[in-house]
Amino acid sequence: MSYPIKRHRRLRGSETLRNMVRETSLSLNDLIYPIFVTEGANIREEISSMPGMYQWSLDRLEEEIQEVVELGLPSVLLFGVPAEKDACGTSAFVETGIVQRATRMIKEIAPNLIVIADTCLCQFTDHGHCGIVEQHAHKEATVANDPSLELLVKTAVSQAQAGADMIAPSNMMDGFVQAIRSGLDEAGFESVPILSYAVKYASAFYGPFRDAAHSSPQFGDRRTYQMDPGNVREALREAESDVIEGADMLMVKPGLAYLDIVHMLKEQFDLPVAVYNVSAEYAMIKAAAANGWIDENAVILETMTAFKRAGADLILTYFAKDVARLLQ
Ligand code: PBG
Repeated sequence: MSYPIKRHRRLRGSETLRNMVRETSLSLNDLIYPIFVTEGANIREEISSMPGMYQWSLDRLEEEIQEVVELGLPSVLLFGVPAEKDACGTSAFVETGIVQRATRMIKEIAPNLIVIADTCLCQFTDHGHCGIVEQHAHKEATVANDPSLELLVKTAVSQAQAGADMIAPSNMMDGFVQAIRSGLDEAGFESVPILSYAVKYASAFYGPFRDAAHSSPQFGDRRTYQMDPGNVREALREAESDVIEGADMLMVKPGLAYLDIVHMLKEQFDLPVAVYNVSAEYAMIKAAAANGWIDENAVILETMTAFKRAGADLILTYFAKDVARLLQ
């Protein structure tokens, strides 16, 4: 017998056949759409480094929510851009906070849309860190772990009180899942799930988001709490802690440069795995497309397929509306 004996091309002969044997599929139900909400009136301001993404004031937000609902997207994740910042991020946990007000409004106009609240302090603190900053004499300021937990719990509880269907803590303090879980339970929100940003790297791929949310650290960086991009086994330890502490889902962030981590979490744990297709991943595709260098829609779909193939059950992506249109 002469080669080729295996004819792999037999199953690629037609579109129908290819559809029949495709191993990975993408559905609307996989998608979570991030929305930036801000104070003020009549604001729909495009984020310059994230074309197609906007900051919305509450009086204009309904337009965006209607579109999300019409496209059939199941969920949104809210990022607040507050008017006031202070050292402990008070505007993150007050009843009148921008995220709390946006949540109440969305639940009113679209009760079936799942509203996920990002639980962090960096957009709300004047120093731009994700926790409380402690200054010791003759030493560099540090982000204090345990005092920050109390504020994160207050934030999560106030978000649940406003009607958030799910809490997504992204601060990378140790013990945050346990603290938030017990805080939610004590307040009567034992049915509100936690989507933990379990494995979040100190990444340069967050740049456009920090411009959009005005959340850059005003001194130092986040490397004492976010993970070192060189580490894999540490990601297992981070995820394992969150599983033990009661997380309902695990998220990996960023996405494209960390598909090995997505794959590993899917293999090692039995919780749903989410991936965050972050701002610079979005900006790079948008920039190349604007230059006519790539076929934007094809690159978007291939990117989403890569997340699913790596093992992601859910994809948090600024492309969610585009993907929904492409799937129609
Ligand atoms: C921090 C936070 C970050 C992002 C969202 N919330 C990371 C950071 O600034 O360290 C980045 C998201 C993106 O780039 O799309 N809580």
